[in-house]
Amino acid sequence: MTSPTESSRNHDVSIVACPDGPLLVRGEVPIVTPAGESVPRRRKTVALCRCGASTIKPYCDGTHKLINFRTEPELPADQR
Ligand code: FES
Repeated sequence: MTSPTESSRNHDVSIVACPDGPLLVRGEVPIVTPAGESVPRRRKTVALCRCGASTIKPYCDGTHKLINFRTEPELPADQR
């Protein structure tokens, strides 16, 4: 169960899957490696690579545009 403080903090966080691009993470969320090490973060909003081609993983460096990365079209709400 989350405390009221944790609950209100969670409302300040969002993750947006950009069509054909990165995941935009807004808010105070720690980013860690698979080994559990903290990844330095300088901004409140960061873009995480999901195309796999970034040279600065886990962050997006814009390479998704160069490789023409495409995501699946979003399903209409009644088909989710
Ligand atoms: S999503 Fe932007 S470089 Fe991978």
